[in-house]
Amino acid sequence: MILASIFVCFCLASAFNYFRQRRQRGFVVNLKGPFTWPLMGAMHKIVLLTPNNFFQRSADYLAKYGAFSRCWVFHRLFIPVADWELAQQLLHSESHLETGHELMSDWLGEGVLMCQPEHWPQRHQQLAALSSPDNLLQLTKLFQQQAVQLCQQLEAYAATRQLFDVWQPVSGNVLDLMLATSCGMQPSEQYKQAFTDLIEIYRKRFLSIKSANRFTFWLASPLMRRRQQRLIRILNDENKQMLGKWRQQQLIESQLKSEGITIDRIEPASKLQHQTLLEVLLSGGKLSDTELCAELNTCNYLGYLLCSSTLCFTLVLIARHPAVQQRCLEELRNARSSEDWQLQRLPYLDAVLRESLRLQPPQLIVGRQLSQDFNYTHSLVGNGALPAGAEVYINLYELQRSEPQYGNQAHLFQPERFLAQPPQLLSFGLGPRSCPARELSLSLLKALLAPLLLQFELLPYGDAMRPNLRLALGSRNGFQLALQPREAIETKTID
Ligand code: HEM
Repeated sequence: MILASIFVCFCLASAFNYFRQRRQRGFVVNLKGPFTWPLMGAMHKIVLLTPNNFFQRSADYLAKYGAFSRCWVFHRLFIPVADWELAQQLLHSESHLETGHELMSDWLGEGVLMCQPEHWPQRHQQLAALSSPDNLLQLTKLFQQQAVQLCQQLEAYAATRQLFDVWQPVSGNVLDLMLATSCGMQPSEQYKQAFTDLIEIYRKRFLSIKSANRFTFWLASPLMRRRQQRLIRILNDENKQMLGKWRQQQLIESQLKSEGITIDRIEPASKLQHQTLLEVLLSGGKLSDTELCAELNTCNYLGYLLCSSTLCFTLVLIARHPAVQQRCLEELRNARSSEDWQLQRLPYLDAVLRESLRLQPPQLIVGRQLSQDFNYTHSLVGNGALPAGAEVYINLYELQRSEPQYGNQAHLFQPERFLAQPPQLLSFGLGPRSCPARELSLSLLKALLAPLLLQFELLPYGDAMRPNLRLALGSRNGFQLALQPREAIETKTID
């Protein structure tokens, strides 16, 4: 009875929304689509979409319906896009900025991804300030310290030359780095466990129709929902404790200053030199504690998943391309022998990272929720409008493998393409809402990658990766890697 009533309500809402959108001027004029029938629409296509079949099904879908199409699921109108012209226009638009991250709203609801449009520009700017050139220089030192730890952990694997999944050591170190970057304090083991458990819950919820929105999740998975809320509480309680400690420290420092005692004499070498995200946010304006927690959570979540995924894909790609590895090594050895050795001056390693990001963009889909019509001009299909209420999903994976854009070897790993005349890279998004931590991420990735390549040879063993989509781009069979220490190789050559 309850289910039947819910179904009837859904149908009425769907019909209402469908006719409301149809009446609007320029209704998806030039789009083809699997169905125009509003109630069920192409629901079967969405219901049958899973993290593992995402790539095959989305490629089939694109082959059948073209690079942009419409797809109704009940009352929701989805517009999957793999068309460069349309994607660029939408991403550069100053008036279509809503991203619609409904899935994560319980955790990140008050953060930059979902905050009110009027608060968004200031929040975005504050996050970008974290990557100011001076701060980035200091952060890079922090990243380099962490790289030493990562290499130490990898020594045990290198001693055996056996295949292992590099996700575990890489993601653990990236998480430590993100937490140090965001709050500058060492969170408890319970915090880290809660963080990774929560990500697992969201990974399960992603692309699962029964937990697509709050209501169906609450109805279909009450236990999982309770656990999710408990984990969010653990994280936010500790975030607030860190905030309290930080404020207390500030108070003591200002009292000491007013008494004429300099901080350096009391707290010398241990103080980190970089400005943390928390400090940037606190210095920038009045955010409530809830908003501060959401902002820390947002950056920890994005940084952890996206940087870990990029680093793992890059390591495996380098391992499977020995010529690329050799060129990286030569560049690193030359750079290290020069007096002012700087990570920023490694053009080939930079190109390797960009090429890896092109082929395996960790955030595969960029979404925009249209709160007003979006008028586009298109050289092939003409002009048109996407209606308010539609959800547009831009598929970066397909776009960055398009032959017209990257040539007929677009599917190959060729870092050289980013050297002479670098093509456009969409992996960090484009336009006003693009990733505010682009430079920070590239520095972090280079800082972790460079010493690792100098210390270990990445061996070309292991199965091909089988990409899947679980929140971020991942691999179904893990990131299989084998290493051997470079000293061992060099000794052998001398022998
Ligand atoms: C390789 C690493 C990364 C990649 C590929 C990446 C990619 C992206 C993409 C595609 C977007 C969405 C752009 C859009 O909607 O138009 C985004 C937004 C964002 N990223 Fe990153 N990101 C990375 C690392 C990071 C890190 C380390 C942080 C935090 C320190 C971060 C913080 C953010 C934030 C806060 C946003 C939302 C900005 C807004 O909505 O205004 N990202 N990122």
